[in-house]
Amino acid sequence: MQADKQLSTEIDANVPTAARMYDFYLGGKDNYAADREAVGELDKVVPSTRRLALNNRRFLQRVVRVLAQDYGIRQFLDHGSGLPTQDNVHQVAQRIAPESRVVYVDNDPMVLVHGRALLDQNDQTAVIHADMRATDEIFSHPETQRLIDFSQPVAVLFNSVFHCIPDSDTDGPRAVVRRVTERLAPGSYAVMCQLVSEDAEVRKFVTDFMDQATQGHWGRVREPKDVEALFEGMDILEPGLVEVSDWRPDTEVAPRQLSDEWIEFGGLGRLR
Ligand SMILES: C[S@@+](CC[C@H](N)C(=O)[O-])C[C@H]1O[C@@H](n2cnc3c(N)ncnc32)[C@H](O)[C@@H]1O
Repeated sequence: MQADKQLSTEIDANVPTAARMYDFYLGGKDNYAADREAVGELDKVVPSTRRLALNNRRFLQRVVRVLAQDYGIRQFLDHGSGLPTQDNVHQVAQRIAPESRVVYVDNDPMVLVHGRALLDQNDQTAVIHADMRATDEIFSHPETQRLIDFSQPVAVLFNSVFHCIPDSDTDGPRAVVRRVTERLAPGSYAVMCQLVSEDAEVRKFVTDFMDQATQGHWGRVREPKDVEALFEGMDILEPGLVEVSDWRPDTEVAPRQLSDEWIEFGGLGRLR
């Protein structure tokens, strides 16, 4: 079974969304007072989140660069891509290989509006308004069919998105990863990271707070072992699963977060 969630096409400025809160953390302008207020409340408990967000974005840029430059990947399927900011996946990949093709998927209607405006001139890139759990819909979408050749290796990205969906045997993170990866050619890659905490109180507070703030559009903060389970059957590449600023760091790493109430944890896997 796959997600049949109702996709909202209306932008509600009064209910915070993950995409707009994350945009605010990154210094963007595509957010509303309700998003900024929710960030303010969250910061009281997890004050390192702005740096966490910046480092998450830098990780995404590094891993895409590595995939394009070192592993020759030319097609990317980015689940929960977020609002466009600087150096989005297609910009990083196309700087290395201009023929790179990228499909962005997000369920936030604002991502669709801003993404389409940004990508208007870029024929090798598309943004799809879909729930990341709706694998059939995403894979059969005309833009995915036009841009991605599934007989060749693909990089699928689930970067800092799984905290947005709850556990479920059919539509939880493990089920989604399984049904996506079983459709990919050997030698494809999966980039996955998610918010984790070793502190049960932090996990509970943030999960409850965000679930209430976003009116139920939230999953949960998990533990490192939950992230490891997502990579089952894949080879996890160096340096393994880590706090993402430790993943092949270079000069573009932002200052590391000062405290570790929660961290973004993950890495890169290669399908056999
Ligand atoms: C924290 S942002 C991460 C953005 C980007 N992947 C990154 O790492 O920079 C989470 C994104 O996932 C999107 N998202 C949340 N739940 C989703 C779902 N069920 N289907 C598709 N996108 C979803 C949100 O709208 C948001 O843009």
